[in-house]
Amino acid sequence: METKWMRVAAALDDPEGLNNDPAILEAAAFLSRGETVAFPTETVYGLGADALDPAAVDKIYVAKGRPGDNPLIVHIAEKRQVDDLAKEIFPAAERLMEAFWPGPLTVVLPAANRVPRRTTGGLDTVAIRMPAHPVAAAILRVTGIPVAAPSANRSGRPSPTTAKDVWEDLAGRIPLLVDGGPAGIGVESTVIGWPQGRPVILRPGGISPEELQDVLGEPVELDASWKASVDRPLAPGMKYRHYAPKGQLYLLRGDLDAARAEIVRRATDDHAAGRRVGVLTTAEGRTAYPPFCEVVVCGTRRDLATVAAGLFSALRFFDHRGCEVIYAEPFPPEGIGWAILNRLIKAAGHRVIQVPRAT
Ligand code: TXA
Ligand code: MG
Repeated sequence: METKWMRVAAALDDPEGLNNDPAILEAAAFLSRGETVAFPTETVYGLGADALDPAAVDKIYVAKGRPGDNPLIVHIAEKRQVDDLAKEIFPAAERLMEAFWPGPLTVVLPAANRVPRRTTGGLDTVAIRMPAHPVAAAILRVTGIPVAAPSANRSGRPSPTTAKDVWEDLAGRIPLLVDGGPAGIGVESTVIGWPQGRPVILRPGGISPEELQDVLGEPVELDASWKASVDRPLAPGMKYRHYAPKGQLYLLRGDLDAARAEIVRRATDDHAAGRRVGVLTTAEGRTAYPPFCEVVVCGTRRDLATVAAGLFSALRFFDHRGCEVIYAEPFPPEGIGWAILNRLIKAAGHRVIQVPRAT
């Protein structure tokens, strides 16, 4: 299949211009015909299809190579569309939508019967989000249909934050790619659900646990299935990988100076053994590593949002440089740091190296 790459010409702050932009009109036409389209959101690029058409949704799974039991997020342009998709809207969900939509928050609610099981991965709940990115919003507005859209990467790869990343993974596998410049936040939306009637963060993301708690006025639990290795490193046998570069990633945990010393020690051994080594650091660590390391500077520790914004492209960059072993510096479990840690732990397949904590 030939993939058409169309750049949005209208200014992002001009909704009228966007409504008439050829790339957006083309995207809407493809979606209405049951085709897939990749487009930018404020978190990462998504691969969309008509959420109510199982045959269209199927094409997403095929293009990504995604396991069929991994449910998709349904994207909408207006809040009233929730009524068509959810059987019930919890009052707490209502408050969160009010506070954070449009934006990087996905709410999981009981699914209406019309939502195909193909979209929900067989579950009786549906994940819904209203994206804030002007291009995503315009496409959703013009089509008027709810659009299922996972991140537009091949399954298991780092999520795409630029049109070029999407191209790298999906060229020849999708009919249309809408280029609206780089996605802003860089990590995906926060997914929140009420599995036992209480709010649980199923995936940390663009909205921090602290922000959710402020609005809900009650503690919000973080799903523990991945968090375990933040609290204590898991056995290195846990092999599930996601967001992963081709080289083996290790995440350091503990005091930053101790972590850097440990990385230098390990990298020196790797280098001696002929392995190409990468290090993921921030502006503060630019000169902390020996010259044989492929050092990727990702944002600054003074503002973790800058780290989130560059995280996935940093992981992809290590691939481009052929790194076989990659070490990531520790990040604090707070604010958007939770999302950064979640992605790094998964990318590392839970390989976490513990060094002593700061005293
Ligand atoms: O920021 C985002 O959310 C991006 C952009 C494109 O909007 N989308 C995204 O989709 O990250 P995806 O498919 O890569 O991740 C969807 C996440 C998965 O972890 C999935 O398991 C979870 O949402 N999810 C979807 N529906 C669910 C449901 N009914 N119950 C629990 N988790 C669900
Ligand atoms: Mg994804």
